[in-house]
Amino acid sequence: MSEAEPAYKPYKIKAVEPIRLLPRAERERAIHAAGYNVFRLAAQDVYIDLLTDSGTGAMSQAQWSALLSGDESYAGSRSYARFRQTVADITGYTYFLPTHQGRAAENILFSTLVKPGDWVPNNMHFDTTRAHVLHNGGRPLDLVIEAAYDPEAQLPFKGELDIAKLERLIAEHGPERIPLVMLTLTNNSGGGQPVSLSNIRAVSELAHRYEIPLFLDAARFAENAYFIKEREPGYADKSPLEIARACFALADGCTMSAKKDGIVNIGGFLAMNDPQLYQRASEALILMEGFPTYGGLAGRDLDAMAVGLREALDEAYLRDRIGQVRYLAQGLKAAGVPLIEPIGGHAVYIDAKRFFVHLPQSAFPAQALVVELYLEGGVRAVEVGSVMFAHPEEESGKMVYPRLEMTRLALPRRVYTREHLDAVIAAGAAIRARSEQVSGFKLIEGSGPLRHFTARFEPL
Ligand code: F0G
Repeated sequence: MSEAEPAYKPYKIKAVEPIRLLPRAERERAIHAAGYNVFRLAAQDVYIDLLTDSGTGAMSQAQWSALLSGDESYAGSRSYARFRQTVADITGYTYFLPTHQGRAAENILFSTLVKPGDWVPNNMHFDTTRAHVLHNGGRPLDLVIEAAYDPEAQLPFKGELDIAKLERLIAEHGPERIPLVMLTLTNNSGGGQPVSLSNIRAVSELAHRYEIPLFLDAARFAENAYFIKEREPGYADKSPLEIARACFALADGCTMSAKKDGIVNIGGFLAMNDPQLYQRASEALILMEGFPTYGGLAGRDLDAMAVGLREALDEAYLRDRIGQVRYLAQGLKAAGVPLIEPIGGHAVYIDAKRFFVHLPQSAFPAQALVVELYLEGGVRAVEVGSVMFAHPEEESGKMVYPRLEMTRLALPRRVYTREHLDAVIAAGAAIRARSEQVSGFKLIEGSGPLRHFTARFEPL
């Protein structure tokens, strides 16, 4: 990144939302009543909520104003026209279907393209993406580079897809069993790591050689563009918008959760170039979400999304946002907290295996850290480890544990200040100092690929 423009805070606060830190005894009661699953906590019992960066961002005054221009016509609204114009300008695709959020776009895409037994490769599927592939009879496959599984490997683009793995998959099963290839920008399940333009190009060339369409899971496309600008030779002088356009141009469409880099509280879309696919996807959309010019959204939501997508590409905003994530990471690291490195775009991922060396994955160390963060500082994090991904092997029934065992601290966009981040760092440092005394958990309720949302635990 050029040093010409120093980092600065590109916004100030106009509306405030009160929060409070419950006394320790009340936090203990709350987490016990929640079955030690933070998804079951009441938000008012949380002090700093880093559960997710999805739908939790603060909208700008321009977005709030745009809400009032919402055209709530059932068909052909002006809001849709504005949304379409913005998304066409950023992505360059031809057809757009709004959806209420990202997973709805995934479901429409997969239910239209995926047949039972098909393979759906990705650098790494996010949990709901994986579940939607499975739900449609497909087989989700993670083909990320091996280094992605090494928490300490210092690579600029650790979210890249391994081209050789994709070649092998195509050779083994034939392109006709692979209805699409996906690339998740940035790689959320692997530490929020970016994917380079040259990797997107290589995946695109390989997929297209076999006439397999490439779709981007673009939830954090703007953050990914920022990393390309910062790290990939030749892009330092390009704007995030130009880089984003170059990424989209290599694919045939995208699914988008606008709750991330659209900085809205609800919204998403499916975009594509293929008119036949659009036709079929529109029919599925009408069935599952709504008429193609509103998807599952109100007209005003489309307007807020159109404004947010542009704001997410603002360079000063991106520098501040990714700077916040780095600030939190540096503070934790200085306190001896082991992290997934380099630091990704939207969250700090703590390596729970190294944090609690005495806890096996069967005792859910990343979940234990989630519980400790709440108890220590009223901080709500999320588990991205064995609760989310461990599953019994198809034939033997033996438990397969994920290679990464992580506790994710996701930063909502434009919401918290340095003081909040300092409180999170203090909580992490305090737990670190007594990490050998922390015990693990037993799962007592919950099953299937989405069990993490509803599971209950008991301390071991
Ligand atoms: N793709 C990625 C990479 C995601 O991170 C998410 C959501 C989705 C798709 C689904 O989008 O929530 O709008 O339906 N991730 C959130 C998270 C929930 O906490 O990381 P959605």
